[in-house]
Amino acid sequence: MLLMLQTALAGASTLGEEIYTEGLENHLVDLGDGFDVSAQFFPCANCHGRWGDGSQEGGVVAPNITWSQLSKPYKLTTTRGRYRAAYDFASLVRVIRAGIDTGGQKLAKIMPRYDYTEVQIQALLQTLKQLSKQSIIGVESDTINIGLVLGQLKQRTLIIKLMQSYFQQINLNGGIFQRKIQLIVDNTIAYKADCCLAMLAYSDDYFPPWASSLTRITVFSSPLNSKVTDKSPPFSLYLGQQARETLLDKYRKQHLSSKQWLIKPPGLELVTQRGQAEYLQIAQQADVPAQWVPEQLWMLSVSKLLVHALSKSGRDVDSQKLTEQLSKTHDFHTHLGPSLSFGPQHYIGAVGAVIHTAWDQNDWIWYQQ
Ligand code: HEC
Repeated sequence: MLLMLQTALAGASTLGEEIYTEGLENHLVDLGDGFDVSAQFFPCANCHGRWGDGSQEGGVVAPNITWSQLSKPYKLTTTRGRYRAAYDFASLVRVIRAGIDTGGQKLAKIMPRYDYTEVQIQALLQTLKQLSKQSIIGVESDTINIGLVLGQLKQRTLIIKLMQSYFQQINLNGGIFQRKIQLIVDNTIAYKADCCLAMLAYSDDYFPPWASSLTRITVFSSPLNSKVTDKSPPFSLYLGQQARETLLDKYRKQHLSSKQWLIKPPGLELVTQRGQAEYLQIAQQADVPAQWVPEQLWMLSVSKLLVHALSKSGRDVDSQKLTEQLSKTHDFHTHLGPSLSFGPQHYIGAVGAVIHTAWDQNDWIWYQQ
């Protein structure tokens, strides 16, 4: 019995979802001239937003229709200053079918009328109830919060300034899908569990335990990171020290040269002209000195990778989508280092390092497996 009930509910919520996000093909809407257009052209989500929290796209102001909003009486600030009481099932049916609100007023024509049945609207109601619960951690209508973890790093102040300047530029150019990126830096009041959509860190072990389910990007992989057993390890740009040493051993075996080789992460070697210009502009704006430049480049690369994945994820971003886009990133050029490629079970962007001779820093090669 319980099982049957659960299946019935699950079925209903799926129907509701379909009505909400796609519209039912064999049902019609009335745009003022009678019911003659398929409801599929007018899913609720188009105007009221994927999460029902309303939208203002294209000059249409569609209100929040999550059930928690509809079921509490509040004064709507539409141009018509409509005042209405709480909705219940019957008045929901009426507003969807006849476009009349709880106060008996006709809604603006832009809100279509639908010929959905009571059973279908009941299913839709379940969806409207759930929509409000699906708010996404770290994402608001006009901001995306990103955690920045630097711990006791001595370059801390400098890196915060640099990254804030980088994201400010992104924001001034319209942000990402109309949302501004806001950095929530560790050791500040705003920095806490559930603050952020994703976390950026200088080093893997700076991440707090509560961030383990979030999308994380860091500079260096730790030995832990390479363990496939970790369900979703952080994405990292480059190999950590231990992995670099192993790489150097491989290189030595291959090239039985008498030279004394050293290995290090990419610094200035692979910065392109474009990358250099970009860095200088951001650094100047941030008013940071040319000190610890590799560290600056690394954290900028982390930021660029994040922005790239965010802009691929779309407006309906969540941590899962962001992670998915990161693992789809292939041959991404930061212009500040080697190109980065990820994949399923592939969490290190550039599996290589810079090898140079002990006595000549300028004699270097980028060595990759
Ligand atoms: C083409 C855009 C559009 C679509 C599609 C749309 N709506 Fe609306 N809806 C609006 C606008 C605009 C308003 C505000 C009208 C007004 O204030 O006069 C509105 C108002 C409402 C209201 C009244 C809210 C209140 O506070 O009184 C409800 C409920 C509603 N819509 C539900 C839905 C549902 C459910 C669907 C899908 C079956 C849907 N809408 C599809 C644009 C749309």
